[in-house]
Amino acid sequence: MKKALILSVLVIFSLFAVSSAFAGGKCPQPRKTKAAPGGIAKKDKTAKADAANGKKLYMKTAKPMACKMCHGEKGDGAGKLGKALKPNPRNFTCAATMKKVSAGQMFHIIKNGSKGTGMAAHGKTLKDKQIWDVVKFIRSEFVK
Ligand code: HEC
Repeated sequence: MKKALILSVLVIFSLFAVSSAFAGGKCPQPRKTKAAPGGIAKKDKTAKADAANGKKLYMKTAKPMACKMCHGEKGDGAGKLGKALKPNPRNFTCAATMKKVSAGQMFHIIKNGSKGTGMAAHGKTLKDKQIWDVVKFIRSEFVK
């Protein structure tokens, strides 16, 4: 009886250790992505962007795959595919890291990708307007 109790406590503990080791979501988060060149990081066209359309792209329709597959439904970088990537996808909920990541910076990386990481260029599959939509969604929903 006691043994079973100890065993189940051990099992629960090890499950917890495994899941937190793979949980992404680190904060502050190491960041491999380089700064956008020139004044691009200062561009911001989110004022007229459509966050609801951005949400659709993020959760479902973006090609080659939905952003949430890597960045997670909660924006914490713990999506199904993201867990296996090194570096991990950006954790948008981490204020300490995101304070260095402007709307224009996000636009540039979504469009052109981030070399040496799993972040692909979406300039061929998303129009600029759609990219601003998704930037607006991420910033209003996840970035605090
Ligand atoms: C295959 C997994 C994957 C998918 C799908 C993906 N990303 Fe990423 N993303 C990454 C990784 C990995 C990084 C790099 C993290 C780092 O810099 O250390 C990243 C970085 C970023 C950044 C960081 C910019 C910065 O300067 O730090 C933004 C913004 C971003 N992704 C947005 C998106 C959006 C929007 C989509 C959907 C259109 C998307 N990502 C789809 C894996 C992915």
